[in-house]
Amino acid sequence: MPDIKKTAITGVTKVAKVAVSVATIVALPVMIPAQDLYQGAGSAGKVPDILKRNRGTKPIVVTDQGLFNIGLHKKVTDALDAAGMSYAIYHGVEPNPSIENIEEAYALYKAENCDCIVALGGGSSMDAAKVLAGRVVNPNKTTKDMGKLLGYMQVTLPHFKRIPYTIAIPTTAGTGAESTMAAVVSDHSIDKKYTITDPMMRPQAAILDPELATGLPKFQTAITAIDAVSHCTEGYIGGASNFRAVEYQERAVRDIFANIDTAINDPTNLEARAALSQAAYFGGQSLNMSATGYVHPFCHKIGAKYNLPHGRCIGAVMPIILDAYMERKPDKVGKRLAKLGRAANISDPNASDIDAANQYIQAIRDFDAKYGIDPYIPEIKEEDFEEIYSSIVVENFPYPTPVIFTKEEVFELLRVIRGDYAGK
Ligand SMILES: [Fe+2]
Repeated sequence: MPDIKKTAITGVTKVAKVAVSVATIVALPVMIPAQDLYQGAGSAGKVPDILKRNRGTKPIVVTDQGLFNIGLHKKVTDALDAAGMSYAIYHGVEPNPSIENIEEAYALYKAENCDCIVALGGGSSMDAAKVLAGRVVNPNKTTKDMGKLLGYMQVTLPHFKRIPYTIAIPTTAGTGAESTMAAVVSDHSIDKKYTITDPMMRPQAAILDPELATGLPKFQTAITAIDAVSHCTEGYIGGASNFRAVEYQERAVRDIFANIDTAINDPTNLEARAALSQAAYFGGQSLNMSATGYVHPFCHKIGAKYNLPHGRCIGAVMPIILDAYMERKPDKVGKRLAKLGRAANISDPNASDIDAANQYIQAIRDFDAKYGIDPYIPEIKEEDFEEIYSSIVVENFPYPTPVIFTKEEVFELLRVIRGDYAGK
């Protein structure tokens, strides 16, 4: 006899997911606020001019300690000094930006009478800066409050106000945070990440300067690139795929696979770095237009729980989730993955859809193996399964995934991700 309660819940979830998908397809492409994009070697030096044109007089530069220690921030602050502009620097952003980071940056912003923001770094610094921007226009709402607006869903629209002028300058090529309308914040008190989403949080400008990424270590280059691949892949096969997003997704995956070897083996090659930066930006556009799928809820929780880099989790989890999709919906998912694989010059154009889709998944596994990304996450503990599952259900709810996994299936996937069946 079927479990009526479980069937009803699954039915409601499916209806809600379809509704969200339709809303996403219709609304997202037109909701994305315009953004000025500056590209090219040395373009980080344009910060003073861009700020002045937009009535910014004193920025806070938001970055992390590692980047500050190697002096990469000077690409921006030297230009500000030369232009005679004063500024403040917050360089305490952690690898997974915390509530405390944003509150500290906000206190500094206020104390220094800043009126604009420059985010410099990877996704963490850019996410921290975006939430800081929202915090500035919501002085009575703490960073923690912003994550609670819609309660358990933890997807919020807290701002709806024009944020201070914000420029995002990525120094990695993966998250696409310079382009997106969302930011992920860690609440260390409960080992959880939550997402704050609001179109108004999209930075008004982004600068893609390939010179900033030339010192990025090989492994960081690989895990950030595979993150961008995942943004495009999840969007492409999800229910919110649309004709505009597809252009970004296909182009980004093709450029990443075409340039990753050069960027890793010849790290100062500006052409390859620029291609990866642009691909990551397109991946951000994919997130804006098509959202994501199960890969990200798994990786957000696992990354937060065991303090692991996002892209390292993505490299392991993505092929396993794609395999699971293929098992359950081979025709639907296979067709989309095959199309993406062919468009990105990864899959054999003459292969069947199923074969071409599997070639695409194998290409991701080959990427992991080639660049040293562990295909499994042995840190996952059985006693944490329930907690991980709860987080995945909550985060995944609004995502238009091609498949809905049951609790038992999520537990089994966690065992696969942990490597329980490796070599069997
Ligand atoms: Fe990601």
